[in-house]
Amino acid sequence: MQSRSSVLSSLSKRLSLVSSLALVLAVALLGAAAARAQKKPAASATSTTLKTAHNAAAQSAAPNGPSGKAKFVGNDTCVACHFDEAKAIDGNAHARLALQHGGQGDTCESCHGAGSEHVESGGDATKMFSFSKATPAQADAVCLSCHASAHPNFKRTAHGEAGVGCTSCHSAHHAKTEEAMLRQPQPLLCYSCHTDVKPVFEQAFHHKVNEGVMSCSDCHDPHGSFQRNNLRAAADQNQICMKCHSDTAGPFIYEHPPLKTEGCTSCHTPHGSQNARLLTQNNVNSLCMQCHTASSIFNAPGTPSFHNQANQYQACTVCHTQIHGSNASNIFFK
Ligand code: HEC
Ligand code: HEC
Ligand code: HEC
Ligand code: HEC
Ligand code: HEC
Ligand code: HEC
Ligand code: HEC
Ligand code: HEC
Ligand code: HEC
Ligand code: HEC
Repeated sequence: MQSRSSVLSSLSKRLSLVSSLALVLAVALLGAAAARAQKKPAASATSTTLKTAHNAAAQSAAPNGPSGKAKFVGNDTCVACHFDEAKAIDGNAHARLALQHGGQGDTCESCHGAGSEHVESGGDATKMFSFSKATPAQADAVCLSCHASAHPNFKRTAHGEAGVGCTSCHSAHHAKTEEAMLRQPQPLLCYSCHTDVKPVFEQAFHHKVNEGVMSCSDCHDPHGSFQRNNLRAAADQNQICMKCHSDTAGPFIYEHPPLKTEGCTSCHTPHGSQNARLLTQNNVNSLCMQCHTASSIFNAPGTPSFHNQANQYQACTVCHTQIHGSNASNIFFK
């Protein structure tokens, strides 16, 4: 990576220069604005992709002021009045975007739209695209003007449809995590809305999400997926669980069909449980007997008559140890 020599340090030098000329501040700003507005096309042309991205952001999403005629003025001009916002964004992924243009990248305006009218009016907020006043759909359109290839189906996901937009989870200026610029770290971010999920991860047996061993997004893609519940798939497009518990994935000579037909969650709860091994039932025998009774709809054989449930035959997996499948035994013995 390029040195983190910040956008800000070069900008703040200019800033102090500008503020020492307090009397001509307005003139200097407008002069800079005009100069940059002309210089802009040449600077952007260094990267076709980003030029396209910026144009898309400016045209389709963040409007060029109410007149639609505002010009790009460049970061330095914005920083002169918005030092705090610039400092907050400094060093994150979007500020690196600016450095890629040899310090000429128009990061502020690629999200907020061209700013000349806002600057000329001395900071009329209505002449600038404001994320806090925009609808989620308007704000998402700005982000997706660059990020559409990574998250093409966002609008059709549970979050997109519920109006949970990019900025519900990400923050440009007030991010609490360096990675992915999240408003809050996981799992707090997710719990802030999914309050009912929190107590489940506090049960006696649980995946160690609260302990930081894994995160919600190991199993869910908050931007949506082709599985229900926004679940991620394992590499072989099988259940996400098999990514980590690969010993359960098989293939086995003797498969236990529910693993592939009903899935892991026919016997386990994914988040947490009062039952050991995250089982859905307190007693193993009642779990198995959901299917292994003569009348079961699951097409599973009933237990043999010598399986007396008043004695040792309750603890099914003491004998049927290879419950996820076996290469040696058709009844899942060792
Ligand atoms: C001459 C000083 C000045 C310059 C230069 C300037 N702004 Fe502003 N800006 C302001 C003032 C003043 C406000 C109004 C603040 C308020 O209403 O609380 C404002 C408001 C905004 C808002 C709206 C905040 C909100 O959510 O309501 C955004 C976004 C913004 N500016 C971005 C920019 C960008 C991007 C640039 C560079 C293109 C820029 N500003 C240049 C002074 C300036
Ligand atoms: C990646 C897109 C993006 C970039 C780049 C960006 N902003 Fe913002 N800006 C936002 C979003 C989103 C918000 C709403 C608050 C938040 O999420 O942090 C915002 C809010 C603001 C506000 C309102 C005050 C606040 O903090 O809520 C101002 C002023 C502002 N930005 C100015 C700027 C300036 C100046 C730059 C360039 C140094 C800039 N922005 C770069 C997306 C961006
Ligand atoms: C002008 C194009 C552009 C716009 C508009 C834009 N981004 Fe980005 N964003 C990028 C690029 C390019 C990167 C990758 C930078 C890198 O790899 O270092 C990035 C990186 C990110 C990252 C990853 C950070 C990381 O740690 O890897 C997140 C999250 C993100 N953007 C969210 C947003 C959100 C939310 C918005 C809208 C408020 C937005 N972006 C608007 C171009 C853009
Ligand atoms: C429900 C919360 C949530 C929403 C809504 C959301 N994100 Fe994210 N985003 C995350 C989390 C958590 C991560 C980090 C974990 C990961 O990689 O999935 C992330 C990662 C990212 C990244 C970096 C890694 C990657 O997957 O490319 C980008 C870029 C990004 N989000 C952009 C967006 C954009 C653009 C939107 C709106 C269209 C959006 N996000 C909406 C939570 C969210
Ligand atoms: C080990 C993988 C895994 C982890 C980690 C995980 N989930 Fe889930 N989650 C699932 C599975 C699998 C389902 C589907 C459950 C079903 O089919 O009955 C689900 C369902 C959900 C649902 C919808 C149904 C419900 O229970 O309300 C929400 C919301 C949810 N998870 C949120 C979260 C949040 C928030 C986190 C982090 C705190 C998280 N998940 C962590 C695997 C996981
Ligand atoms: C701003 C609030 C908010 C945040 C933050 C949030 N969600 Fe959601 N989430 C929702 C809403 C609203 C829905 C749709 C209604 C519902 O199913 O509850 C939803 C739905 C879901 C679903 C169910 C998807 C389905 O198909 O039914 C899962 C899983 C989920 N969110 C996981 C997460 C994870 C993981 C995070 C953290 C990275 C997160 N959410 C952050 C509000 C949020
Ligand atoms: C990101 C990796 C990962 C994914 C994905 C994952 N797990 Fe786990 N799982 C673990 C780890 C690590 C442990 C053991 C440490 C612990 O207690 O959290 C564990 C523990 C378990 C246990 C308890 C084992 C015991 O000895 O008590 C069960 C059952 C389980 N997982 C089932 C599942 C199911 C079902 C899924 C899919 C919904 C799943 N896991 C997805 C990492 C994962
Ligand atoms: C037919 C019910 C059933 C299904 C379906 C099932 N499991 Fe299990 N699993 C069990 C039982 C019962 C145990 C406890 C075994 C014991 O008591 O030793 C267990 C134990 C586990 C354990 C703890 C370590 C071990 O191997 O004993 C993990 C991890 C696990 N299962 C993951 C999974 C995953 C991942 C899936 C889906 C691919 C899955 N299970 C599907 C019944 C099932
Ligand atoms: C969701 C339903 C379901 C659950 C729960 C379930 N099974 Fe099965 N099991 C089946 C099906 C279906 C078959 C395949 C029957 C066949 O091949 O005809 C099977 C096959 C078996 C076989 C092999 C029988 C044979 O003749 O090939 C054994 C042994 C077995 N299961 C034991 C268990 C035990 C022990 C448990 C509890 C830990 C359990 N099963 C839980 C559905 C289930
Ligand atoms: C003490 C060891 C032991 C325990 C505990 C045990 N089994 Fe078995 N199970 C066996 C043996 C041995 C066979 C093979 C019988 C045969 O070959 O005819 C068998 C066979 C089976 C079969 C295959 C029946 C068929 O027609 O193919 C099923 C299903 C089964 N057991 C389910 C269970 C369930 C459910 C439990 C718990 C309620 C359980 N077993 C507990 C030893 C045990």
